[in-house]
Amino acid sequence: MMSESEQTSHPRFFGRRKGRPLSANMQRLLDHILPQFSIAPSEQTLSLDSLSASRGKIYDRLVLEIGFGGGEHLAQQASAHPDTLFIGAEPFINGVVSLARQIEDNRLENILIWPDDVRIMLGRLAPAALDGCYILFPDPWPKARHSGRRIVNQAMLDILSQTIKPSGFLRMASDHPVAQSWLLAESLKHGQFFWTASCASDWRQRPDGWPETRYMAKGVREGRASVWFDFARR
Ligand SMILES: C[S@@+](CC[C@H](N)C(=O)[O-])C[C@H]1O[C@@H](n2cnc3c(N)ncnc32)[C@H](O)[C@@H]1O
Repeated sequence: MMSESEQTSHPRFFGRRKGRPLSANMQRLLDHILPQFSIAPSEQTLSLDSLSASRGKIYDRLVLEIGFGGGEHLAQQASAHPDTLFIGAEPFINGVVSLARQIEDNRLENILIWPDDVRIMLGRLAPAALDGCYILFPDPWPKARHSGRRIVNQAMLDILSQTIKPSGFLRMASDHPVAQSWLLAESLKHGQFFWTASCASDWRQRPDGWPETRYMAKGVREGRASVWFDFARR
């Protein structure tokens, strides 16, 4: 398992960065939309104030989505909450293009994209900068020998506990039994978050206003039930 400093400075990414070749329109989205919405790789500290200033608008809240995939959930959240600024992190370039398309089609202004491994950017966030964080259907890496690749682990929860403000939320979801047990066990083990569920329907039922993400839909097609774990920062 990687140490916290290895997680943030030289993380090793095991997922896919590229999928199908990009069409001309996808390349246009990358060349013209992504630069307008991406967070530059620099040393600058990221806070609600600095990021609001970079967008030229005062936002009320700052929320992160780690591994937004095709961006369905992120785009819907951004559309529903125009006063919240969302940061989305995703190294898979075809997913980044998909989000850029939704930004363009829906004229969304309140999204910033980190088109890379989130762990490189997390260390730049100011303490308690985030009102919340989503980690939806993370890659399960079900084999025990690959457990060190799982994005949610004690080092990640340490960083998130520093960057999510007290009472801020951490929402995780999964359709994979190994990942479900892992997400719950790791989060309960970590002292800085508490599980807000009070009955089984709180984690078994799809929350209101929740769009079906690509991976959730895949789980449904393949007969796997999803769970949603809502934690809050102490
Ligand atoms: C199984 S997919 C789920 C995508 C999406 N959340 C959904 O529900 O459809 C997991 C995503 O996490 C992304 N991911 C994995 N490791 C990551 C990391 N270190 N930083 C940011 N994203 C990561 C992957 O590229 C992939 O798109």
